[in-house]
Amino acid sequence: MSDARMFPHRHLLGIAGLQPHEIGFLLDEAEQWVELNRATSKHDDRLRGLTLINAFFENSTRTLLSFEIAGKRLGADVVNMHAAQSSVKKGETLIDTAMTLNAMRADMLVIRHASSGAVRLIADKVDCPVLNAGDGRHEHPTQALLDALTIRRRKGRVHGLTVAICGDVLHSRVARSNILCLTSLGADVRVVGPPTLIPAGIEQLGVATFTDFDAGLDGADVVMMLRLQMERMTGGFVPSLREYHAFWGLTPERLARAAPDALVMHPGPMNRGVEIASAIADDPDRSAITEQVEMGVAVRMACLDVLTRRRRGVEGWA
Ligand code: NCD
Repeated sequence: MSDARMFPHRHLLGIAGLQPHEIGFLLDEAEQWVELNRATSKHDDRLRGLTLINAFFENSTRTLLSFEIAGKRLGADVVNMHAAQSSVKKGETLIDTAMTLNAMRADMLVIRHASSGAVRLIADKVDCPVLNAGDGRHEHPTQALLDALTIRRRKGRVHGLTVAICGDVLHSRVARSNILCLTSLGADVRVVGPPTLIPAGIEQLGVATFTDFDAGLDGADVVMMLRLQMERMTGGFVPSLREYHAFWGLTPERLARAAPDALVMHPGPMNRGVEIASAIADDPDRSAITEQVEMGVAVRMACLDVLTRRRRGVEGWA
């Protein structure tokens, strides 16, 4: 299959709803962009003439930059809208903002928003493909895709690997999208964290839960650490940062419980000395953290390319 049947979706709002072969298709497509991004001249013109608007209603460093670079490397005109300087602060509704972006004839919208479901609300109102760059605690699909690509390249496969997703699972859209993506690709996924930070009923997503860190790490092939998302916490989810690190921080001693060649990941931004010790984060043999960032650009290039094929009239997609 080399046409629209490979990826029949208009938007990328989440990993939920994607078939395993559709996830695999996006990862395969991303490989060519890894190569291009490592070349001296990093330019491809396929999105020439198209306008990409990155509308970020929540802070971001790597995701915003990554989408901006991805769009530019494919030749699109890229515009970034920061909500802090926008009319959102003047009380404009989300729908009105969406209609404004639509009236400017954006060809792709990349949206980050603090509310779960906000990105779908916008997608339902506009004429162009919408990519979810993180909505509340709900989904962050390109993060899961870049993590799967990183694992696949480092380990040669995803299927059959044991992946431990550790820490603040409750507040994490990264965890949710990764659970959906990695289970769909056939990994054995564990969620590991203090009981206050594990969402009730998470087992329904096909994961095993562990509230003992050492037991959860035992024999894991991939250890994915999550940021402690203090900004989403309203009460006392953790006693103190020092205590959190003592019980739930990934240290070299702790990591010894995992498989000898276990890969350590973190979506960033990291709280060094809280969920992860610098000795691990900075160890290139164990940590894939900078590679995750690299794969992020390639995956986003693949998503922007694939989602605009119909609009560009690419043969087999129009
Ligand atoms: C994550 C996010 O915003 O969901 N960051 C990212 O996109 N790399 C994770 C986080 O904020 O902890």
